[in-house]
Amino acid sequence: TSVLPIYTQEEVAKHCSPAKGVWVTYKGGVYDITDFVALHPGGDKILLAAGGPLEPFWALYAVHNQEHVQEILSEYKVGEL
Ligand code: HEM
Repeated sequence: TSVLPIYTQEEVAKHCSPAKGVWVTYKGGVYDITDFVALHPGGDKILLAAGGPLEPFWALYAVHNQEHVQEILSEYKVGEL
């Protein structure tokens, strides 16, 4: 198993658009979801979280509180906070 790099919130915040790349954080993990944006069943709403934490949005949209959604997210992990 390999150790993923540590990123700061500031570094994550730079990745806030499809052009700059779309990164989000969740429970201490950092995810590069650029390639998932176009696949998201909820459409462009996903960009509201770009560059920051998913938690406030997933608290509102409980559809994400399912194992299969967590599995999708885990595929995009690039680091830790
Ligand atoms: C639905 C993944 C971020 C809003 C879904 C579904 C998946 C998904 C797999 C379908 C779930 C199902 O029906 O079983 C993700 C992932 C995200 C993300 C991996 C981040 C990496 C967001 C954000 C928002 C959002 C930030 C809102 C600001 C929605 C909405 C739906 C949805 C509204 C329901 C769409 C519908 O059924 O019409 N998402 N999502 N998602 N997502 Fe996300």
